[in-house]
Amino acid sequence: MTGQVVVVGSANVDLVVDVPRHPGGGETILGGDLRRSPGGKGANSAVAAARAGGADTTFAAALGADDSAALLLESLDRAGVRTDLVSRVDAPTGTALITVSPDGENAIVVAPGANLRLELTAGHVDRIAHADVVLAQLEIPLDMVRAAAAARRPGAVMVLNAAPSQDLPDDIWAALDLLIVNEYEAADLAHAQAAPEELAAALLERVPAVVITLGAEGSLVAERDREPVRVPGVEVKAVDTTGAGDTFCGVLAAGLARGLALPEAARLAGVAAALAVTRPGAQDAVPALAEVEEAS
Ligand code: RIB
Ligand code: NA
Repeated sequence: MTGQVVVVGSANVDLVVDVPRHPGGGETILGGDLRRSPGGKGANSAVAAARAGGADTTFAAALGADDSAALLLESLDRAGVRTDLVSRVDAPTGTALITVSPDGENAIVVAPGANLRLELTAGHVDRIAHADVVLAQLEIPLDMVRAAAAARRPGAVMVLNAAPSQDLPDDIWAALDLLIVNEYEAADLAHAQAAPEELAAALLERVPAVVITLGAEGSLVAERDREPVRVPGVEVKAVDTTGAGDTFCGVLAAGLARGLALPEAARLAGVAAALAVTRPGAQDAVPALAEVEEAS
């Protein structure tokens, strides 16, 4: 069983420059050569679900009618993502300005453009209704997350990667089956600074399951009425962490779609994200399923 994943989310062209360090306010620094590569949290996760997770994956998104859209469609096609529900709107394709420091850490500003014009059609609703897992992030209007959750069938898993971090209204919390966040996003959403176990316990009051990603330390899987599980990290040399979290979410969604238990899906997702960190770029860094299996 491969399982069906629908990702409802953003697509951005990433404009990336390596820098000796991230600039402060009012500062100009010189960086390396400009790279232009396919990104966006939604598109990165869709590519990961298909290529690294082996899921039958549909991506629902809005692109402009420009060169950036062509670059993104080419990357999605190459990964085997279904793009028939990617619409073209009268706004520039989303663009992210990214600096990457020598330790592989990034700083990102997103100009959302077309992503804010995403609307779900009857075609989207029908595809979502057939999905095993629906995955969204927060680079699209919150109403689209709401609509995606409402369209899923009973028993399907609604996953939100709450990135970039923002407070969520009650009805969105109530619509989620699984929340995936990093430590900073977990602290924001829990309105607390605490250890991951404590943050997870607080978030479990709002959602039945939480995965907190911990970078090189792996992840914490917490489900109501179960002992939390620490999934150990995989040691790698970080080249570029851009999109590693998105790879994690996509592969985890694919794992759930094919019936894996949450801790096992998180373990595979961690392996895929670790491989992605060793390579430059977001979608360009997503490993193939065979590599993930070999490394696990
Ligand atoms: O999570 C990484 C992604 O965030 C980048 O690809 C960029 O486009 C922004 O959406
Ligand atoms: Na990378």
